[in-house]
Amino acid sequence: MSDNLIHVDHPLLKHKLTLMRDKNTSSAVFRQLLREISHLLAYEVLRELPVENVTIETPLKEMQAPKLSGKKLVFVSILRAGNGLLDGMLDLVPSARVGHIGLYRDHETLKPVEYYFKMPDNMGQRPIIVVDPMLATGNSVIAAIDQLKKAGAKNIKFVCLLAAPEGIKALGNAHSDVEIVTAAIDSHLNDNGYIIPGLGDAGDRMYGTK
Ligand code: URA
Repeated sequence: MSDNLIHVDHPLLKHKLTLMRDKNTSSAVFRQLLREISHLLAYEVLRELPVENVTIETPLKEMQAPKLSGKKLVFVSILRAGNGLLDGMLDLVPSARVGHIGLYRDHETLKPVEYYFKMPDNMGQRPIIVVDPMLATGNSVIAAIDQLKKAGAKNIKFVCLLAAPEGIKALGNAHSDVEIVTAAIDSHLNDNGYIIPGLGDAGDRMYGTK
């Protein structure tokens, strides 16, 4: 497994993920659970954000206290399922900038096709957190990070909900500098590129499409 892999292990996360995997869970509950899990994943992936001391006054005394410093971080959502993780991340860091990458998976080749790319300025000076719930083949996130690096991004981490060993390996080979944070590592991919046992198509489960 990749050196840059963080498997977040927490009973709350495990419980919520089990509810998400259940095919009888409704879209509304699925979205809510994904949002709650993204809070727990954000806590882990944002652990190294820089802080600096500022002077404030409590009701009792002046003190030096830490605040986030540097350029605002960027959450990059890989459309459309990435938005399910994005919403929860923005709950915790409402001042973050947001980028979107539109990539769909060609169902025959399983290769990503880009249709949208919109990022904030100064990408090279900002921490970048790319979000997509499913790390399957890795093709989409690799293509997304290729584009982000072309746009100047340097400090990139990737957050997903479920990862397949194939995707972890592929992403590690293509972008060994990118830390991967995941809530679970599943068994393998099937012939259609779905994670087994997985939870199905995350976008369809979120939005009630097929
Ligand atoms: N994308 C999904 O939504 N689900 C999978 O199992 C694989 C890729």
